Amino acid sequence: MRRVFRCGSLMFLGVLAWAGQNPRVSSEPAWAGTESCGTCHADLVRGFQLNPHWAIEVGHTRWPSWKGKVCEACHGPGTKHAESADPAAIKHPGKLAVSEADGLCLACHRGQPTQAGRLHGSHARNQVSCVACHSIHGARPHSPAPRRAADITAQCASCHAGVVAEFARPHAHRLREGAISCVDCHNPHGEFLPKDQRLAGANEPGCLRCHGDKRGPFVFEHAPVRLEGCSACHEPHGSVNPRMLTRAEVRLLCLQCHATVATRQAASPAALGGVPPAFHDLRSARFRNCTLCHQKIHGSQVSADFLR
Ligand code: HEC
Ligand code: HEC
Ligand code: HEC
Ligand code: HEC
Ligand code: HEC
Ligand code: HEC
Ligand code: HEC
Ligand code: HEC
Ligand code: HEC
Ligand code: HEC
Repeated sequence: MRRVFRCGSLMFLGVLAWAGQNPRVSSEPAWAGTESCGTCHADLVRGFQLNPHWAIEVGHTRWPSWKGKVCEACHGPGTKHAESADPAAIKHPGKLAVSEADGLCLACHRGQPTQAGRLHGSHARNQVSCVACHSIHGARPHSPAPRRAADITAQCASCHAGVVAEFARPHAHRLREGAISCVDCHNPHGEFLPKDQRLAGANEPGCLRCHGDKRGPFVFEHAPVRLEGCSACHEPHGSVNPRMLTRAEVRLLCLQCHATVATRQAASPAALGGVPPAFHDLRSARFRNCTLCHQKIHGSQVSADFLR
């Protein structure tokens, strides 16, 4: 108790008293304390000392009331179970309904910045719980959160094997080599953009964290880069086309939105972008490679036609 007195906070003492080494009022939960758990789950308690949650056991400034009873911060009051050893008398988060299990974790983790877009996220909406990805007592001794890119990708792969396979295409980020992972582009906790796409800064596509040269503001923006985002023209999971483009030839990509007069009737209903001027003779090889001239295709500071 010496540390408690040094802390000197009346509120802290109040919480401790409530948190019931002293459960006078029978309707209040009866806490057993971590030491008690250790009498039967010695290995788990010993192993848990390497877990980041052990900070709660020894006294965490944000959750001081859980000092000395970290196990029960997730498993709920344990006196009944500790006395009877009846598994039914204690919460097992893996057996709870998803919303209830997540509620346990969110009681402390709700405020963390990566959870801000949680309600928009596919995982929360599809009942993929925290413990589907985070193994609290699992094999990784030091943290329930995977750290290495390869470990993260392996975890995502357990449910999204098809996506990982897409990275085997000839033109792709080197995800399979461990140079990048799924969470470089996605926030597994959910995000405000569709498909849980990670944001860079306030509200830019996460791609710009690494491809900063494509970041504006440009004096002359190419409308789809901002309005539709990078995947208007690129296949982020890999492509059979060079530069991970959605089309085999750059020309075909551009003409999707910039039909020439000759191709305009064919393009339906109406192309989005301007019509290339008449001197663009697409029968001539010279005009086939649009980005030979329109070099600053992601935006330019000097040329309205993205020529330089
Ligand atoms: C008197 C011994 C004893 C004490 C003390 C004890 N447990 Fe248990 N606990 C058991 C036994 C036995 C089981 C059942 C193990 C099994 O089924 O393999 C169990 C199972 C559990 C389970 C799994 C429940 C389930 O649904 O499968 C959890 C969680 C648990 N204990 C947590 C705790 C916590 C937290 C504490 C401290 C508050 C604690 N135990 C104290 C003996 C004890
Ligand atoms: C941060 C939350 C958290 C804390 C703290 C925590 N546990 Fe758990 N515990 C879980 C979750 C989640 C599970 C369900 C299995 C899983 O997903 O890893 C679990 C499962 C268990 C089980 C059942 C094991 C099994 O194989 O089914 C026991 C026993 C247990 N915990 C005991 C403890 C003890 C003892 C402590 C304190 C040293 C403790 N837990 C601290 C979250 C926690
Ligand atoms: C009583 C508060 C509390 C509860 C409940 C809680 N956590 Fe934590 N969690 C913490 C603290 C404190 C840390 C240590 C890191 C820190 O200080 O932020 C932590 C760390 C983690 C980490 C590791 C972060 C890292 O950077 O290594 C993960 C993952 C995590 N918690 C997941 C969970 C999950 C999943 C649950 C529910 C089963 C849960 N937590 C329940 C307070 C809590
Ligand atoms: C789809 C898998 C998945 C789900 C579901 C998930 N996480 Fe995570 N979480 C991760 C991964 C992967 C990381 C590591 C991210 C990184 O390194 O950038 C992580 C990181 C964390 C961290 C470390 C700090 C941070 O914000 O990056 C905490 C704490 C955490 N998760 C808690 C939770 C809680 C609480 C829930 C449930 C509400 C949850 N996670 C649901 C995969 C998941
Ligand atoms: C336990 C299984 C599971 C794990 C593990 C998992 N996911 Fe998911 N994920 C789902 C389910 C279910 C959905 C919703 C259904 C769907 O769209 O496929 C989903 C949806 C998504 C979506 C949005 C798809 C859309 O159309 O909106 C993204 C992005 C995603 N997951 C990324 C990840 C990443 C990154 C990881 C690894 C950190 C991961 N997932 C781990 C099950 C999982
Ligand atoms: C280079 C960035 C990047 C990486 C790395 C990445 N994604 Fe994506 N992912 C995206 C973008 C951007 C979209 C949205 C595409 C769109 O607009 O339809 C997306 C879409 C998705 C979707 C929705 C369905 C689909 O296929 O369009 C899922 C699921 C998904 N990603 C999962 C994953 C998983 C799992 C990994 C790791 C194996 C991963 N992603 C790696 C950028 C990435
Ligand atoms: C974590 C950093 C990172 C993120 C995030 C990222 N990239 Fe990349 N990207 C790279 C690196 C590094 C390369 C160089 C190729 C390589 O070594 O994988 C690259 C290459 C590319 C290439 C060129 C491939 C070629 O053949 O020249 C394109 C196109 C691309 N990325 C698009 C995207 C898009 C679109 C996004 C967002 C959906 C994105 N990147 C997100 C790191 C990243
Ligand atoms: C209007 C279509 C379009 C959009 C939208 C677009 N790109 Fe591109 N991008 C291209 C074309 C075309 C190329 C190939 C240029 C060439 O042929 O040299 C390219 C090439 C690239 C390259 C490789 C060559 C280089 O310049 O570094 C990267 C990286 C890249 N884009 C990233 C992005 C990112 C990040 C975004 C979103 C901010 C994005 N692109 C949006 C059309 C587009
Ligand atoms: C997804 C549709 C789309 C794709 C693909 C696309 N653009 Fe655009 N582009 C636009 C839109 C929309 C504008 C703005 C038109 C406006 O402001 O009237 C634009 C503007 C331009 C301009 C400025 C002149 C003008 O018409 O305003 C040029 C030059 C241009 N694009 C060239 C290209 C080239 C070259 C490619 C192929 C690498 C390409 N675009 C691919 C939609 C697209
Ligand atoms: C040999 C160089 C060259 C090539 C190759 C080229 N362009 Fe251009 N393009 C130009 C020049 C120069 C202009 C500006 C004309 C002007 O200002 O009057 C231009 C203008 C445009 C404009 C803008 C029209 C407007 O209303 O301002 C579009 C759209 C366009 N090009 C699309 C394309 C497409 C699509 C391709 C590939 C099929 C392509 N260009 C290939 C040189 C080229």
